[in-house]
Amino acid sequence: MKDLIWKKHDRGESTDPAIMDFLAGEDIELDKELLLFDLQASAAHVRGLQQIGILSDVESDRLLGGLSVIEQDFSNGIRDLDSSFEDGHSAIESWLTEMLGDLGGKVHTGRSRNDQVAVALRLYMKDRLGHLRRICADIAAVLLERVSMDGDLPMAGYTHLQPAMPSSAGLWLAGHAEAFIDNAELAVLTYRWLDASPLGTASGFGVNLDLPRDAVAKDLGFARLLVNPQYAQNSRGKIELQALSVLSACTLDLRRLAWDLSLFTTHEFGFVKLPAQYCTGSSIMPNKNNPDTVELLRAVHGVVQGAQTELATVLSLPSGYQRDLQATKPPLLRAFRKGLQGLALLPGLLTGFEWQTERMRKSITAEMLATDHAINLARDGVPFREAYRTAAAEMAELNDEAIAQSLADRTSPGGCGRLETEILQARLDSLED
Ligand code: ARG
Repeated sequence: MKDLIWKKHDRGESTDPAIMDFLAGEDIELDKELLLFDLQASAAHVRGLQQIGILSDVESDRLLGGLSVIEQDFSNGIRDLDSSFEDGHSAIESWLTEMLGDLGGKVHTGRSRNDQVAVALRLYMKDRLGHLRRICADIAAVLLERVSMDGDLPMAGYTHLQPAMPSSAGLWLAGHAEAFIDNAELAVLTYRWLDASPLGTASGFGVNLDLPRDAVAKDLGFARLLVNPQYAQNSRGKIELQALSVLSACTLDLRRLAWDLSLFTTHEFGFVKLPAQYCTGSSIMPNKNNPDTVELLRAVHGVVQGAQTELATVLSLPSGYQRDLQATKPPLLRAFRKGLQGLALLPGLLTGFEWQTERMRKSITAEMLATDHAINLARDGVPFREAYRTAAAEMAELNDEAIAQSLADRTSPGGCGRLETEILQARLDSLED
């Protein structure tokens, strides 16, 4: 272990490896995902210190040069965070000191690891919510594109998993599209909500320097300041929980979509054929072709939900920084890694699957026209309850025309005959800017 930045060499603080290992936890591994954000924030902090004259221009240039070398080396794999460091924050200072001597230590003037980690995490969450928004928008775009190609294909609609009414591929596709448009919007709203800079709040009480917090926040692309230093710490975990709840809405919809696909690919339904690369074989049964990808996509929500529970459980804390807050990082990073990885597979899967039109058409039976029949009678003035009984007793004639008519006549807004995808498309387009 390198020299600890907080070690004062005179009090015999513990450096027992077992204790240090426990304190570090997974930090080194996790901080690899945060390091570029930490470096970005460190550079903005240096520019802030220069602005108020704490660092000379020369010092600031040298520190910025050092930070940029670290960034390049880390991105190219030449420099790695390893267990000789306590965490990513102290590694930055230690690398700078190695390169620039005592000047390296000046990077930490007026900041604490408490605001350093908080700002890195906010930048990380903004980045991941941006990804999430784009993936959700891509998923919705692919689904709407397929509505325009396959929207009219008839297939049975189910409630209770029992045949209900004739429905269409379009209604199913547009239903999932609307879900992901909602999710993309949630990502945008949450991004805006947490787009505030905690940098410059230091350990949670402010510092005796006129830090140009606004300028530094702007430099980092934040929309505003997180003003109160205590709240900068108290909001840790809370904003993570909110980011996870957006992810969780996405993976909940992913789970339902994957469930549908898994059902539709069964021998019994046979509505859908998945692209070969999303399926695997069996090690023993030569006849098998299994939809493993959709099954594991269905499992992603479990990881996210587990992370939400883990994170919420940590947050039983008094005000101010507590080391427990470190334990909010593993569930956040784990869930976003798995969630984004799974969601990113959906556009390809949704573009590539094939409808089995014959099986879809055959899933519609004459009984399923009864609701249309009852409503037709009611339209002619028969009280609905009487029409309902009449329709139950009279079997309608089933043929392709009757099915097409049933779908075309479903003109209530959003229904099979009037999907109103232009409303969905407009919402999607307004997200792009
Ligand atoms: N790894 C720590 C965390 O995530 C960094 C902050 C450490 N601060 C401290 N006062 N020990 O919270």
